[in-house]
Amino acid sequence: MGQPVNVGVVGCGAISAQYFQTIDRLPELRLVAVADLDLDRAREAVRPYAGVDVLSVAELLADSRIDIVLNLTIPAAHAEIALQAIAAGKDVYCEKPLAATAEQAAGMLRAADAAQVRVGCAPDTVLGTGTQTARKAIDDGLIGRPIAATATMMTPGHERWHPNPDFYYVSGGGPLLDMGPYYVTSLVTLLGPVASVVGAASRTRAKRTIGSGPRQGEEIPVTVDTHVTGVLVHTSGVLSTLVMSFDGAATKAPNIEVHGETGSLVVPDPNYFDGSVLVSGVGEGDWRTLPVGAGYVEGGRGVGLADFAATPAGEEPRTSGSLAFHVLDVMESLLASAHSGAAVTITSTCERPSPVNLTQPID
Ligand SMILES: NC(=O)c1ccc[n+]([C@@H]2O[C@H](COP(=O)([O-])OP(=O)(O)OC[C@H]3O[C@@H](n4cnc5c(N)ncnc54)[C@H](O)[C@@H]3O)[C@@H](O)[C@H]2O)c1
Repeated sequence: MGQPVNVGVVGCGAISAQYFQTIDRLPELRLVAVADLDLDRAREAVRPYAGVDVLSVAELLADSRIDIVLNLTIPAAHAEIALQAIAAGKDVYCEKPLAATAEQAAGMLRAADAAQVRVGCAPDTVLGTGTQTARKAIDDGLIGRPIAATATMMTPGHERWHPNPDFYYVSGGGPLLDMGPYYVTSLVTLLGPVASVVGAASRTRAKRTIGSGPRQGEEIPVTVDTHVTGVLVHTSGVLSTLVMSFDGAATKAPNIEVHGETGSLVVPDPNYFDGSVLVSGVGEGDWRTLPVGAGYVEGGRGVGLADFAATPAGEEPRTSGSLAFHVLDVMESLLASAHSGAAVTITSTCERPSPVNLTQPID
């Protein structure tokens, strides 16, 4: 193995700990420096890891050791940080969604093309054994020709547990832009890109109350739709029905089901790397659990960054910016359709990301 790829992280909030753990256990990545608007938070976040510098954003971007900037800021800041990193000649890997708007995301991809640097994006959970085993089952013809899928995410809202949930209720947030990237990326991984959408949406409350942390009890404004439904018409003709909600108490619906001509699949939660894939053929009645057949075993947030870093120049990374852009375009178009009442044609597209063979973790 060659030299590790040096990573600099901007944004050391709630999700950063999971990345730091993964980077720490992957020899192909090295955490060199972190930055945050709140330097104390950055210092605290990397306390368990020796030799990581805590820098200002400008210092981190100017640091010649850093190959990839891992952008873990809030969605409203994704584009601004990514554009600065691109201008500094760095590859960028962003948390999802790629940006708060497709227009911002398009600007990022244009700038990256011009600077000849690469953009990657979460979610990488879909590279885990759950989604990848389901994808292999579809590709192997286990359910015949895919016809339809359903995707359901129902929660009462992240303000119940996140200490700073404001970003979930402004542009770039809401159940669709926050959780939709997992579901739509999984659907594109399983069934290919989307050609058109039709949507409907509602907003139940003007304010939400923070449920934990120092701001517990504080009310925050809601400026986005909090229950979003719709149909994605894939280029292949498959119809995926989506329900993404911060307004439901609970659900027993599977996260994702895919129905084919000869069988149906239950696909595990795309917010996680693993989980059981179930199959039932026409007339079988019962569900069988498929053996784990593909994907990164024991994945953690950051394996997509390693996959991105290891992708040879000239090849499309599985966690590519163009996939993330298509996913964002689909979600934004679904909201546009919900507001106009008309179907929206999706003008972007992407390659279906290449499958991940069953890959055991390195000891
Ligand atoms: N919290 C989760 O469970 C979770 C899970 C998966 C993905 N994500 C995604 O990860 C990203 C971050 O989420 P989070 O929950 O960690 O948010 P957070 O609010 O806890 O942390 C974000 C951090 O970014 C910093 N920041 C914001 N703007 C900045 C700027 N311009 N320059 C430097 N630092 C800046 C903030 O100070 C904060 O420390 C989001 O895109 C979110 O969608 C979060």
